[in-house]
Amino acid sequence: MKIAVLPGDGIGTEIVAEAVKVLNVLDLKFEMETALVGGAAFDAFGHPLPEATLKLAMASDAVLFGAVGDWKYDTLDRPLRPEQAILGLRKHMGLFANFRPAICYEQLVGASSLKPELISGLDILIIRELTGDIYFGQPRGRRTATDGHFPGAEEAFDTMRYSKPEIERIAHVAFQAARKRKAADKEGRVTSVDKANVLETFQFWKDVVTEVGKEYPDIALDHMYVDNAAMQLVKEPKRFDVVVTGNMFGDILSDEASMLTGSIGMLPSASLNTKNQGLYEPSHGSAPDIAGKGVANPLATILSAAMMLRFSLNQPEAAQRIEAAVQKVLAQGLRTGDIWSEGTTKVGTAQMGEAVVKALG
Ligand code: IPM
Ligand code: MG
Repeated sequence: MKIAVLPGDGIGTEIVAEAVKVLNVLDLKFEMETALVGGAAFDAFGHPLPEATLKLAMASDAVLFGAVGDWKYDTLDRPLRPEQAILGLRKHMGLFANFRPAICYEQLVGASSLKPELISGLDILIIRELTGDIYFGQPRGRRTATDGHFPGAEEAFDTMRYSKPEIERIAHVAFQAARKRKAADKEGRVTSVDKANVLETFQFWKDVVTEVGKEYPDIALDHMYVDNAAMQLVKEPKRFDVVVTGNMFGDILSDEASMLTGSIGMLPSASLNTKNQGLYEPSHGSAPDIAGKGVANPLATILSAAMMLRFSLNQPEAAQRIEAAVQKVLAQGLRTGDIWSEGTTKVGTAQMGEAVVKALG
């Protein structure tokens, strides 16, 4: 088993280092190889996703990814910006299914900006389609009255599109996830989020998801417009079980859902292809404002490593050990700044990682 470790930029290197510490004490047989990605790779090689990094990722069973991006790259041409690295990895590896669970840990109920009764016990799963939609649609560009991609352009455009097979496969992923959750006492409901009242692409989405849903009579299916879904997520989040949606709506709603749980610093994610090869990354970004200070929360990355063990490396017991260890350090009252509250103990990135290592027993 081989893991490509791609820490990236900003807090990426700090949080990935803690996840690697945790993986190293598990006593499992796998090889880890680190490579540059994002702005760090641009600085070293002039490209955010160098050939060697992509090759390593493609040849690995799983990728453990930190985060990419920094304001200092905002003026680069789009193909050279750090974000293109993650988009490129998703596209080249075919990572179409993005799992973003939003789970509220009981000890962190107070860290959310929502009332405790709204979020206590929250456990929802957002499944975002990750390789289609307007993020990958052609054509895209900017036009002036005359020509080209120039500053001062008079028009810009991106194209939203989905094919039937793309919608079908993500719908199957969602229904199967709901079925698994139902076996573990969840409701067994898929909410498909669209904008069918305005967009052709999402009327099509809704029709195809409805068709696929007929193959899963044991799973309830409902449809919700994205604007209403954004509202329902803060009004009554526990009404959801599995939410499935397109790339752009999923990007937005998963950030919203993450904050229900108190901190985006707690939430892992998995992006899988048809071969269960996966990329595992925290749901949050590179947080350049706190980079290098040793204060970032490494738990989302550590929990991403647990997802990696479960989904791509076939080590469910090890995954469970990590998740239990995270629960334990929270119960011990250890908190990084993002989840700190009166009466708990504030720790830094490395201290938190070491506490998880210790809690593994
Ligand atoms: C995410 C991020 C990325 C996305 C960016 C960095 C390209 O926001 O993973 O949600 O939009 O998909
Ligand atoms: Mg995002």
